[in-house]
Amino acid sequence: MFVIDKIDTSDKGEFYKQLNAYLAGLLKEEEYWLAALSNAAALLYTLLPDINWAGFYLYREGELMLGPFQGKPACTRIALGKGVCGTAASTGQIQLVEDVNLFPGHIVCDPSSRSEIVVPIVKDDRLIGVLDIDSPYRARFDRQDAEGLSSFVEILNRYIDWPGEFR
Ligand code: SME
Repeated sequence: MFVIDKIDTSDKGEFYKQLNAYLAGLLKEEEYWLAALSNAAALLYTLLPDINWAGFYLYREGELMLGPFQGKPACTRIALGKGVCGTAASTGQIQLVEDVNLFPGHIVCDPSSRSEIVVPIVKDDRLIGVLDIDSPYRARFDRQDAEGLSSFVEILNRYIDWPGEFR
């Protein structure tokens, strides 16, 4: 059993320090990518306040394919360059979207989502996929979330031995 207590702080830097310590603890137990990403999505969904979706899209056969997540069922395939996820994947840049209705080409999976953050996962110049988190609130995510979630992705990359391809 892995005990996860609510992180009780209003300091985002401290929040991500504790969240990322939980992640490292989980990954020390299990490094297989599918199990590790499943638990990583569950960790985000359980601990991050004010979100309605957290999960991964993985780069497979030239497009992004839905991976482990928590939240409502979502679209399964996203072309590179399309939507917030495809933009993060094609540019390699974190996408911090205060209002998804103002993002050209945003792909609606859940109409109640208002803001979104997408962090590319790249290891040794290879695109692995993206981490995507949605919120029903406008401007839920800021630079501190971007920093904390970049560290989250770095930890995933450190522990997980990604397969040659996702099949
Ligand atoms: N909104 C995303 C699609 C994925 S869902 O939010 C889970 C996008 O525009 O890429």
